[in-house]
Amino acid sequence: MAQLKASARQGMSRHGIPRRSVKDSYRVEIRHLRDELDIKQLDIEAKCQALQETLEELEESRSRYADLYDFAPVGYMTLDAKGCIKEINLTGAALLGREQPQLIGMPMSAFILKSDLKRYLDHIHQCRLTSDKVVTELNLAVKNSGAITVQLLSVRHKVRGGSDFSFKTVITDITERKYYEKELARLDRLNLVGEMAASIGHEIRNPMTTIRGFLQMVKERDDTDKYREYYDLMIEELDRANSIITDYLSLARGKKIDLKPGFLDSIVKTLYPMLEANASLHDKQVRLDLGLSPKLMMDENEIRQLIMNLARNGLESMQSGGLLTIGTLTKEDEAVLFIRDEGPGIDSQVLEKIGTPFLTTKENGTGLGLAVCYSIAARHNARIEVDSSSTGTTFMVRFGCD
Ligand SMILES: Nc1ncnc2c1ncn2[C@@H]1O[C@H](COP(=O)(O)OP(=O)(O)OP(=O)(O)O)[C@@H](O)[C@H]1O
Ligand SMILES: [Mg+2]
Repeated sequence: MAQLKASARQGMSRHGIPRRSVKDSYRVEIRHLRDELDIKQLDIEAKCQALQETLEELEESRSRYADLYDFAPVGYMTLDAKGCIKEINLTGAALLGREQPQLIGMPMSAFILKSDLKRYLDHIHQCRLTSDKVVTELNLAVKNSGAITVQLLSVRHKVRGGSDFSFKTVITDITERKYYEKELARLDRLNLVGEMAASIGHEIRNPMTTIRGFLQMVKERDDTDKYREYYDLMIEELDRANSIITDYLSLARGKKIDLKPGFLDSIVKTLYPMLEANASLHDKQVRLDLGLSPKLMMDENEIRQLIMNLARNGLESMQSGGLLTIGTLTKEDEAVLFIRDEGPGIDSQVLEKIGTPFLTTKENGTGLGLAVCYSIAARHNARIEVDSSSTGTTFMVRFGCD
């Protein structure tokens, strides 16, 4: 080193370069190099920062994808060529009632209800044969939650770098859908039976009218005097059967009504004498509280029936001495008809199902009265509300008016 320094010094003095200026030029060179180094370092730091940001974005998008995959509303899984689970999302694992890690490597067939196993094997077989989607509905036996119905939608997928296949499968829980489909089919059948019953009911009325006419005629003869009681009973029973058929028919869907302008108050007034007479027979009272209801489009016969049914229920619910109030009022854009009694109120279990046909707590009730009221209200675009407590019940029928 000392030798090197000495020879450099000799060279410099040979070329006449002063020692001081060599030192300066080194310094400049070093500063220059340092600046360059600083710039490079800054550049690297910026690149590092950008890389870090890209990495974070990538991580974020990966976790977004993982969330989408895991929390999708349907189950996703990949089955290997033998039908064992290679991959499954959280929804799929929840459908099978197990934790994700437990499921990896398990044969999917372990979750299929025995009776549907053949259908599942056919599904896998179909998938092997075609590159199209294969859809099968079957039942799974799931730990702790019994059987559920699912739809499997699978597509064959070639494993990278090999000749084997795997299957990408979407599992959708269709238990509820299947339930509603069944319910709809049941309702359709019920509707059909209802329509048949309605038309039979209609036809039965004619012979009944004839029988009633003859009973009435025979009853009035002198030689049948001792059987008068029986004739009365038979006529009464026929009348009751007839009124049940009338109620039943008025429940029929699509019943035609004859809408004309009318007033609730005037209908209530015409019914009052009959209701009053009926109530006083059982030592009860009827009071009107009419508030000048506006003109409404209505089928008078139907509204009369509605008021009668509600008033009858009110009267039947009360002990002697009870007061039934029938009233009308106008509230904003609604005309309200209300019928208030002082009975013991409606049991909460009955209240839940109020208006369901054939729901009755009365020994001789048919349980059609309110069902008829609800269908009349629906045909008039009106709503029925019930307010019931242990001191009485109020039925309110709200008609929209313009
Ligand atoms: N105002 C009321 N107070 C107490 N319970 C009532 C009242 N109105 C209805 N209910 C209850 O609702 C049930 C159903 O009433 P609904 O009028 O449909 O049938 P019903 O009166 O039993 O028989 P019907 O077909 O002869 O009218 C009644 O059996 C009764 O339990
Ligand atoms: Mg009734």
